[in-house]
Amino acid sequence: LLALPPVEMARRYFQMYTQEINAVWTNPCDYDKHREIWPMSKSCTKLPSFIIVGPQKTGTTALLRFLQAHPMLLGSKPDPVHFEEIQFFLTKNYQNGLDWYQDHFPKPSHPRQILFEKSANYFDNELTPKRMYALLPQVKIVILLCEPAKRAYSWYHNMLFHNDTVAMNYTFFEIVSAPDSSPKFLKDVRNRCLRPGMYAVHLSRWLQYFPKEQILLIDSDRLDNDPVTVLRDLQMFVDVEPVIDYSTILEFNVDKGYFCLKESGCLSSNKGRKYAPMDPVSRSFLTSYYRDHNLNLKTLLNNIGHPFPTWLEKIEES
Ligand code: A3P
Repeated sequence: LLALPPVEMARRYFQMYTQEINAVWTNPCDYDKHREIWPMSKSCTKLPSFIIVGPQKTGTTALLRFLQAHPMLLGSKPDPVHFEEIQFFLTKNYQNGLDWYQDHFPKPSHPRQILFEKSANYFDNELTPKRMYALLPQVKIVILLCEPAKRAYSWYHNMLFHNDTVAMNYTFFEIVSAPDSSPKFLKDVRNRCLRPGMYAVHLSRWLQYFPKEQILLIDSDRLDNDPVTVLRDLQMFVDVEPVIDYSTILEFNVDKGYFCLKESGCLSSNKGRKYAPMDPVSRSFLTSYYRDHNLNLKTLLNNIGHPFPTWLEKIEES
């Protein structure tokens, strides 16, 4: 048995157990011993009951805004760095620990109020499901699935909107079809554009940690066209009361081409933009690029007994 000063002891420990260098937070209140030493002033309950994990450009902001209009649903507080998204489980924010995470949620003023979070980058991040499960094994996961080529095109336009130099200097086709021999910056952008749309790869990872009953898959086209039904199903899934009728809160805005909140209006101008349709060469490239991924998604959804999104029904084996 060796007794050393704390810092030296820690150094020795992590030399021996390198896999433990990266912290994994669990809920202190799930373990008697931890609960005993967890200060009275701290909470174990200011944690989300459900999380919208993305992916980006599938309608996650519209879903967030609509849910924020529900009096019993409390979204996380905006973060100065990531705006409306906390991005706790995938960024260096994770090293800030549990207090930091809990501080990003408002204090419920009613016992039935439910906390939730939306960070659209969680979906395709490899570390997130493991970390999320360690802290929140009961959390419900909400995933939106939009036709992946459409999602990639929306992502590209979002980059253009933010004056991203790569998007401004390369066409959509040049980015999505960039070969592996391309410079790193171009490959990085290509991957960020295409990777989230490999739905089966990412969904399989979530299913390694969470049972299918804890995951709600939403067809983005249904959110666009029939948000009232989507929001009714989601309220039942997260078990919030009362279940409100969103037809009283939402109205279709003809100019925008989307549903908007009657009281606070439509989303900002960078959501639901109008741009030229995708060129046929990119469309054909992406149809073949995502073909196997989409077929794998069909198999996966079949295995878990989930109906196909409308856009996926059309994809058939040749
Ligand atoms: P575009 O802006 O490319 O049209 P996210 O919020 O996840 O980044 O997704 C943005 C996309 O949400 C928009 O992409 C649009 O297609 C979709 N969307 C769904 N419902 C919407 C709504 N009510 N208002 C605006 N955009 C909506």
